[in-house]
Amino acid sequence: MPETSEKKRKRKRGDVGGRMDSEEDGDQKKKKKESQRPNYFVSIPITNTQMKSLVKEVQEAVLQKEPRLAKAMIPVPTLHITLLVTHLASEEQVELAAAVLAQAAPSVAELLGGRDLVLPFSGIRHFRKEVVFVGLDSGEHRHTLDSLAELVRRRFEEQGLLQGDNRDFEPHLTIMKLSRASKLRFQGIKRVEPGLYSDYTNKFFGNQTVERLDLCSMLKKKQQDGYYHTETSLQLGGRRRSEPDEAELLRVSRRLVEDAVSRALQQYKQETLQNGGGPNAAALQSPGSAEETKTDTTANSSTDNRK
Ligand code: C5P
Repeated sequence: MPETSEKKRKRKRGDVGGRMDSEEDGDQKKKKKESQRPNYFVSIPITNTQMKSLVKEVQEAVLQKEPRLAKAMIPVPTLHITLLVTHLASEEQVELAAAVLAQAAPSVAELLGGRDLVLPFSGIRHFRKEVVFVGLDSGEHRHTLDSLAELVRRRFEEQGLLQGDNRDFEPHLTIMKLSRASKLRFQGIKRVEPGLYSDYTNKFFGNQTVERLDLCSMLKKKQQDGYYHTETSLQLGGRRRSEPDEAELLRVSRRLVEDAVSRALQQYKQETLQNGGGPNAAALQSPGSAEETKTDTTANSSTDNRK
């Protein structure tokens, strides 16, 4: 019997055939969907320690009232703002995404115009009472952030790297979400009631300078610092790479002090030798740990105490 045109149309749409066919189609679709699940995202990390402490405080306050929400809490070292989520299907795609991010650097720099992008966060809001987040205040920074997200998304899209659900960019700093704890549903917890965090609804959480954009894996093991596995980072502002960090400043200042003490010691030795002796110059020690001090005093030349 020749196929009717209706049947042809159905076959094209894939809705002919028996139950088995549609079940197989369903399975295939499910598999395809799963294999395209987001596994990477571009993140702005939260590095402001004061903000992190405040988030921890809110989480603890909520847990006091509802301990069953423990698993819904976002671990503080992972706090971030998502610019985009996507599915990268291979190592090549991950490398391409890393390159896309790096290549966006001049456009990002132009967008920022040499200024830091500082994001002030206040209050607590939610999506469908399932995702609870600290909100971003309105203001000029919001436009810059929107443009930044748009720029990065466009670059990913141009390279065919933007897969899946990319809804309108709505910056949020997630602090708890029910999807982290699927069991909660069975325990009857389907929502996080705003009353649980009402003390913080209008609280100012602090300013976060956008220091870098990270290409992060959702699935790979987290880093030692507790943050997501990061494939690459685009450094933007805040503390720039060329600027020394706190530890480096400490090292440099210690070295300066040690050099100064060393010079003073040398001068003192010379003077006491010229004056025919005096107190044991070696008893004068430079500051530092016991071990360093030991090393310093055994060193023959006291002009340089560095190890
Ligand atoms: O990206 P982040 O981990 O902060 O996302 C938190 C959750 O919020 C995600 O599960 C995302 O699907 C959800 N979300 C939402 N509505 C939005 C943006 C994100 O429900 N407009």
